[in-house]
Amino acid sequence: MKATATANANIALVKYWGKRSSDPILPQNGSISMTCDGMSTTTTVEFSDKYREHTVTINDEEFKKDEKDIHGHIDRICKLAGIIQHAKVVSESNFPVAAGLASSASGFAALTMAACTAAGLKLSKKELSIITRQGSGSACRSIFGGFVEWVRGQKDDGSDSYAECIASKEKWPDFRMIATIVEAKKKPVSSRGGMAQTVTTCPYYKDWLSTVEDDLDTVRKGIQEKDFGKVASTAEFNALKMHATMITTKPPIIYWIPATMEIIHAVRQMREDGINAYFTMDAGPNVKILCLDKDVSEIEKRVNELDGVVNTILCKPGDGAALLDKHLF
Ligand code: DP6
Repeated sequence: MKATATANANIALVKYWGKRSSDPILPQNGSISMTCDGMSTTTTVEFSDKYREHTVTINDEEFKKDEKDIHGHIDRICKLAGIIQHAKVVSESNFPVAAGLASSASGFAALTMAACTAAGLKLSKKELSIITRQGSGSACRSIFGGFVEWVRGQKDDGSDSYAECIASKEKWPDFRMIATIVEAKKKPVSSRGGMAQTVTTCPYYKDWLSTVEDDLDTVRKGIQEKDFGKVASTAEFNALKMHATMITTKPPIIYWIPATMEIIHAVRQMREDGINAYFTMDAGPNVKILCLDKDVSEIEKRVNELDGVVNTILCKPGDGAALLDKHLF
């Protein structure tokens, strides 16, 4: 009753922002992401009679209960599998946790795959994405590799709200994302809290929703056509629209810090200079630059010269979640 899984983070090109239900987690809108090779979490789960309660250790630290209910997610999987044992969970990520770098996406995807396997559940990837979604929405996309769409669905039970691969990593191997790390600190407002506040208090939230379908169509088509400008410019505008809803909640949620603006302006300058670079951002101050492989070295050189940039992480389209033979304990 022990299994280990690894999963990559994913960065949305069309963002999931807002829930229509929090239990089960169901999105207001569909989203599309790239699974990021190079930003991964590996998790070992063991169920045994020798454990008196679930224990979760993340990056060598005991996990303290927060709004992302990891213990509740393990209980959910135990219930599905019909087992009564408790779990020991050990998890390691190779990038900063909770800094708007989608650590919960790789974390919940790896946890769900490892726990379901350790509990003896035999599931398709679609079924795994549905269970993962109940732990953290965006994590359902990390079950798959390459370019992934999380379809909104219509049903209240969530059986039609799952992720699916829309293009393999081989389809567009030179697509790149450079995560610029400006501040590897825990963010002041979580994505969960931020999106709930947006749905209830932002006067423009309905306008966000009214434009997402078009963004999904454009990005989906752009990926099939490998039209970088179409995909990346739509992703940039989509991120700005999402941040516009964040800034106009009560109280306002402003994730940007001066270094965030510095990078945004640098990316715009790159475009002036003929470099095909665009940006996207999530619920945090870090900027992710979208580009093609041929422009990576020039872009990295320019951003690393900026005062506020601590370091960069380069990602290409990566694999979906997978089981590993080697356990962490
Ligand atoms: C801005 O998936 O972390 O990164 O479902 O409450 O766990 P919960 O939220 P989460 O939100 C991610 C929001 C985002 C956009 C995205 O990844 O699509």
